[in-house]
Amino acid sequence: MAQIIDGKALAAKLKVDMQMDVTTLAQKHGRSPGLAVILVGDDPASHVYVKNKEIACEEVGIASISHKLPASTTQEHLLGLIAELNNDPKVDGILVQLPLPEHIHADKVLNTIHADKDVDGFHPFNVGCLAVRQPALRSCTPYGCIKLIETTGISFHGKEAVVVGASNIVGRPMALELLLAGATVTVCHRFTENLQSHIERADIVVAAAGKQGLIQGEWIKKGAIVIDVGIHRLEDGSLTGDVDFEAASKHAGWITPVPGGVGPMTITMLLSNTISAFKNHVGLV
Ligand code: GUN
Repeated sequence: MAQIIDGKALAAKLKVDMQMDVTTLAQKHGRSPGLAVILVGDDPASHVYVKNKEIACEEVGIASISHKLPASTTQEHLLGLIAELNNDPKVDGILVQLPLPEHIHADKVLNTIHADKDVDGFHPFNVGCLAVRQPALRSCTPYGCIKLIETTGISFHGKEAVVVGASNIVGRPMALELLLAGATVTVCHRFTENLQSHIERADIVVAAAGKQGLIQGEWIKKGAIVIDVGIHRLEDGSLTGDVDFEAASKHAGWITPVPGGVGPMTITMLLSNTISAFKNHVGLV
């Protein structure tokens, strides 16, 4: 049976370290790191995610300032708010919760955030930095997945890594992270033929397709590391991922559960990025 990679425990450990770091930084620099969170509209899941981000900030001593705007907010208004936050010296990080309402161009909005305040790591500058092996602010979920894989103690060098899903938020930066770490990387996506054949030879699988149970347990190579980014709510209210966990656990060497795997690490890396942005702004790095 596979060993469980406990994201909740790792997140808790990292948060203790960050809390101590923030206390020292605040004493020395006369202010705490600040994160501005912008939420447009009333998507219930987004409200839950933003609430969880606010709670996590409080736990480690980061000052979070939320801007909750109606779904009717114009793109112009949103860009104006981002411009204000870009120029606010108390704000180290700016996060615009996705998805945005359809009348707003998400790329335009995300590209307006100053790269040095882009704590989501979505700005093309930051993705480009990762691509050329000069990581700056790194996308939270992929960076969190790397930290989870590192807990196994297994080297990335020469491993076959297969990423399933090619989104801007997870799949693409995940591939760049794995490449940076020294793995041989394949990215599968909606046009990939014979997904099974790719999974069967993978030493590391990162499932981020957003399709419940897409990855069958029998496909997993003996001893592989399986990281499940998917999160889906079943009719009985329970949560599940993109991987058939029960069957995959019989083949994998290591596997993340859903919930309690990748989820807690995404928020933790957001906190870490906000502290990094603060350090950059006060001239420490
Ligand atoms: N929506 C779903 N995941 C994310 C994320 O990591 N960051 C932001 N800003 N929005 C999201």
